[in-house]
Amino acid sequence: RTVYVNGDYLPEDQATVSIFDRGFLMSDGVYEVVSVLDSKLLDFGGHIVRLKRSLAELQMDNPLSDDEYLDVHRQLIEKNDITDGLVYLQVTRGNPGDRDFAFPPAGTRPTVVMFTQSNPGLADNPAAKTGWKIISVEDLRWGRRDIKTVQLLYPSLAKMEAKARGVNDAWLVEDGKVTEGTSNNAYIVKGNTIITRALSNDILHGITRAAVLRFANEAQMKVEERSFTIDEAQNADEAFVTSASAFVMPVVEIDGAAVGDGKVGAVATRLREIYLDEMR
Ligand code: PDD
Repeated sequence: RTVYVNGDYLPEDQATVSIFDRGFLMSDGVYEVVSVLDSKLLDFGGHIVRLKRSLAELQMDNPLSDDEYLDVHRQLIEKNDITDGLVYLQVTRGNPGDRDFAFPPAGTRPTVVMFTQSNPGLADNPAAKTGWKIISVEDLRWGRRDIKTVQLLYPSLAKMEAKARGVNDAWLVEDGKVTEGTSNNAYIVKGNTIITRALSNDILHGITRAAVLRFANEAQMKVEERSFTIDEAQNADEAFVTSASAFVMPVVEIDGAAVGDGKVGAVATRLREIYLDEMR
């Protein structure tokens, strides 16, 4: 695979970053994941807007222009012959030469890394037909989940807990209310109403979330942006999650209890279809 690091395209085994890079030592970096279907990027513009916001919130320089980011994405898709899959993009605060809690001096070059992951048949993921089972765990992440940082240890632990319990993912719960999934936004459906937590610093402002809510509104579905409990979700008609890589993924079981009739719901199925139709 050919990857990108700081301006160079290299075979992955020749691409290197310093051990003093703040991304490595301090998780001091941000990232984006953009899906590729039929060799085309999905919602690239939305992801770049959020990348710039994440960088600004952490007072990190933005090393490339929008066009440069787009060019690297396109070149990597081409060089790696990606039809379906994703492009991963990471910007860290770079290499100050030593370990120090204080940020490095202005002008220290951020480290930019991009690579592709091929995933043939991504849009036809069979899991969308059967749905995910999930568990709930306490949300023990930091308080700025709106910034897409590479500080992903807690979501990884939650994913491992889900795997150990034989299910697909975990929903994170804070003060009795669901925040989001380990790497996706969480929704329930009651009747014809789609319910999802309102945007704040408590959750990532999903690019897929924004698109799905826009399509739901256009299709005259009702949307309520408010928090909900696991109990309310278990008693809802449907549940689902959204992310750049899962698109719209139905959730059929929460902490061992079937959601609705325990089958993939009509609203989630329709939203997935609309999303894939509109985005390609
Ligand atoms: N995760 N919430 C969290 C905590 C996430 O990590 C993600 C994305 C989302 C959905 O955001 P979007 O629709 O913009 O992908 C919500 C990516 C896919 C990942 O970490 O791989």
